[in-house]
Amino acid sequence: MTSYPVEQVDDEIRTLMDDMLETMYAAPGIGLAAIQIGVPKRVLVMDVSPEGEEPNPICVANPEILKTSDALAECEEGCLSIPDLTEKVVRPAECRVRYLDRDNNEQTMNCSGLLATCIQHEIDHLNGVLFVDHLSKLKKDLSLKKYKKMQREKMRDMAEK
Ligand code: NI
Repeated sequence: MTSYPVEQVDDEIRTLMDDMLETMYAAPGIGLAAIQIGVPKRVLVMDVSPEGEEPNPICVANPEILKTSDALAECEEGCLSIPDLTEKVVRPAECRVRYLDRDNNEQTMNCSGLLATCIQHEIDHLNGVLFVDHLSKLKKDLSLKKYKKMQREKMRDMAEK
């Protein structure tokens, strides 16, 4: 499922961004796409600041990847939509993204490190793509099997309590 662009970042979208930040921090997670709370709009929020440092929320609407580096980076990724599962995913190490900020101003941002991984992961959500879709077919099947097993065990633990 593909999410739709917003016409502009207005009060309604800012409220959505605030709700998303609240959900993301509560999880806790470092990124969230609107579709993950059931809203099919091209909106995402991130905060990749190191634990224990000042929060640095980034609100993004209509992101567009302008450029990606040839250099790749491997990062252990997880997702609030597939709880408890993490896998190493290879993506471009750096990217340049154009987007609308919280005040509806057009911005471009050069991303590297964790931010580059996070923003590519979140933009994928807007296009209906999950991090496991970047794995080989074999790896993805194994990974989803592992996930289902973990979910079953979790359900069983809950039933026993
Ligand atoms: Ni995710």
